[in-house]
Formats: sequence, C-alpha cells, structure tokens
Amino acid sequence: MVNIAVLGYGTVGSGVVEVIHTNHERINQRIGDELNVKYVLDLRDFPGDPIQEKLVHDFNVIVEDPDVQIVVEVMGGIEPAYTFVKRSLQAGKSVATSNKALVAKHGAELLSIARDKNINFLFEASVGGGIPIIRPLNSSLTADEIEEITGILNGTTNYMLSKMFYEGADYAEVLKEAQDKGYAERNPEADVEGYDACRKIAILSSLISGQQVDFEDIYTEGITNITKEDMMYAKEMGMTIKLLASSKRDNDHLHAIVAPALLHKEHPLYNVNDVFNAIFVHGNVLGDAMFYGSGAGKLPTASAVVADVVDEAKHLNRNIMTMWKNEKLELLPLDNTSK
Ligand code: HSE
Repeated sequence: MVNIAVLGYGTVGSGVVEVIHTNHERINQRIGDELNVKYVLDLRDFPGDPIQEKLVHDFNVIVEDPDVQIVVEVMGGIEPAYTFVKRSLQAGKSVATSNKALVAKHGAELLSIARDKNINFLFEASVGGGIPIIRPLNSSLTADEIEEITGILNGTTNYMLSKMFYEGADYAEVLKEAQDKGYAERNPEADVEGYDACRKIAILSSLISGQQVDFEDIYTEGITNITKEDMMYAKEMGMTIKLLASSKRDNDHLHAIVAPALLHKEHPLYNVNDVFNAIFVHGNVLGDAMFYGSGAGKLPTASAVVADVVDEAKHLNRNIMTMWKNEKLELLPLDNTSK
C-alpha cells in the first residue's frame, strides 16, 4: 500500500480525493499497488463527510508517520505551505503540489532537497492546470534547446478578454461576471494584474534555462487598462487582445514578459477562448508544438496533481525531475524584447 496525505481540503484538495476515489482501479493498476489517502490536513471540520475520519489538524501527525510516503500540498500561498513541503521532503516523503507561488519562489531549493533524498518534488498542476507542460519539458522535450514559450496562462483573464471580444462588454462588467462565476477572487489582483501568469512563466523559464528566474524580474502588465474601445479597434483590424506570458532565448540569454498583446487571426493563440489556456513551445530541433486545454478548475487541476502522485508512487526511491540551479539568471532588459 502507498499512503499519502493531502494538505488542504479546499477546491483542489477535495478534487484530488475525488479523482483517487473515482479512478482508483486504473490508478492502482498503473502503480502496481494500492494508493490510500491516509490523512487530510485542514483547519476545518467536515461533519457528515466521510473525509472527517481521515482529518487531522496537526501537520506533525503526518510528517512523523513513517507510513506516509507522499504528501500532496494543495493549500496555496507561501506559508505554511513552504515549511510543510520542506519538512516533508527532509523527512524523505515525495511531494506533489499545485502551488505556483511556492514553486516560483522556492522551486530550486525544494528540487535540490528532493534530489539529495532521492525522492521527488513534482508540480505539474502549478502551470496550465490540467494541461501537461511541466512533464513534457522535463522528459519528451529534454533533447531540445527550448527557444520560446508563449502562452495564455491565466484562465480568468482569458475568459474576461473573450467576453469583451465576442460580446463588446466592458471591463467592469466582465470582471463582475468572472467573480460571479467563481473564476476571479473578490480581490482579483493576482489574475487581472498578471501576477498569476508571471509566476507561471517564471517556473517555465527556470525549467527551460536550468537556472532560477525570479518572478520579480519579469516585466508584468495586466489587463486592467484594456477598454471596450481597445477591443473594438483590435477587432476592426482583424485582431484580438490576449494576455500573453512569454519567455524567449536570445543566444545564451533569456527575456520574459507578461503583457496584453494584439494577435492576428492567423496566430495559433487567437482562437483560445473562455477559461482555456494554451502554451506554444518552439524547440531548436522539435520546431513548434502547442499544448491546449483546461487551465484551471477543480478536476483538471486535480488530474495533474494525481498524475504526479502516480509518478511518485512508481518512483519511490528514484529522483525523476530535472533540477534548476539555485543561481539567479539575469534576464535581458525589456528593450531587447522587440528583436
Ligand atoms: N486563477 C488562475 C487562473 C487559476 O485563472 O488561471 C489557475 O492557476
């Protein structure tokens, strides 16, 4: 039996438990063993929910239990997630996380601890929700020099811009709709100011360069200044406006940016609408590839997290993730991005 603990029983955490329950036969067959959720950590109680019997409020119960081999961190935010993940890895437990803020800030260090312990720190769900992108970059595309990654990495803003494009709606109207549908938070800053997309492109940039790319160094502009009129003019020119996150190689250097961009009808990202994400990758031997799908949401995100758990269960004593060095990569200044 492979025992796991899930830290956080919010949207993604309950999705993880649901995916493991729904697909248990297939999952167990792939692992060649039985995957068991031994604990769920949350501050709250869930009376009447069968999860209550697995619920613990104290992380020490999990980290001190030698039977727990894998920890799933789906709490979000930096603390206490960082402390819990670090302690889990130091205790020899592999970790799977969906937490982009944690990976963008501490990825290099956590990958290095996992490497030293010969276990795994995996984070497929931190970028693009259910879309496989971290694993391809770590395996299928490792023979390539990745020269460009450009993506629509935030579902909420893509939903808003799509509404502005197709319905001629204005910014305030679509923000309210996005909030009513539960896509945007009451405080929508992380999405609309581009901070969420910035952390995601920082992770992808670190992976393709093999060095730490600090999200604070990436020029980031959100969609708060895009008006109904801007979208109307774009449409008249046969274009649309999308929030793009991009990382491009220039010889040995990298430049990265998050900003709204005008896209022509012929552009492969033009037709990516609603909450969907898409990531365009160019490799020096691969040429072009596109990854498209559900970039957010309970089950798509949980699907990516559980895939990481399965991989970790199959490689309990073997590190499978390429590291990036805990050595900061200086990005090219923004002036060079137009080359
Ligand atoms: N707020 C994010 C989005 C959630 O809208 O894409 C997934 O990271």
